[in-house]
Amino acid sequence: MFNWMLPEKHAVAILKKDHDTVKELFEKFEKTNSSAEKERIIAKALEELKLHAAIEEEIFYPAVRKHVGKDLMNEADEEHHVAKVLIAELDANAAPDHRDAKFTVLAENVRHHIKEEENEMLPKAKELDMDFEALGQKMLDRKKALKRTGIPEDAEHAMVAKANGKGDSPAAAARRRPSATHRPAKKALGGAAKKPARAHASK
Ligand SMILES: [Fe+2]
Repeated sequence: MFNWMLPEKHAVAILKKDHDTVKELFEKFEKTNSSAEKERIIAKALEELKLHAAIEEEIFYPAVRKHVGKDLMNEADEEHHVAKVLIAELDANAAPDHRDAKFTVLAENVRHHIKEEENEMLPKAKELDMDFEALGQKMLDRKKALKRTGIPEDAEHAMVAKANGKGDSPAAAARRRPSATHRPAKKALGGAAKKPARAHASK
């Protein structure tokens, strides 16, 4: 864990602390075999990630976007979007048989995103001449308010709800054909015409 020697309420220190919190949760998830513990970790991580994404998107990103530049910022936006789709699917308990895998992929995506923020975005943002502690206070206040009122549903949650479970096609396909690879091959008798496989029936 590196230390940028920043005041506690510096906006970058707040984000860094959030990053450490979720990384610890990901490690705990990987170490436990208990389903109940995994569910507790997933619930905590999703809440932390939603609050973190909200303060970044509403407050931090707009404040540093121009200085950091659109390439890095657009990439961060898209990484948030992908993470939020997975978060929405975990919230909806889409593909319950793929739940651990879904959370593992979310963790991998978020770890990658954190690395890019800490190695590129945040050092660049820190060059800005602004009151980072005032910005940090604003972020902490917003987080507190969101904890009190609840986090409003985002576009990704609406998108996943609209798909009604059909948005997770590889998981659904695996569920429909669990033993496809183990089924003994049927011999065609007397050259009878075979029905085409319905591989893409649900698309
Ligand atoms: Fe982020």
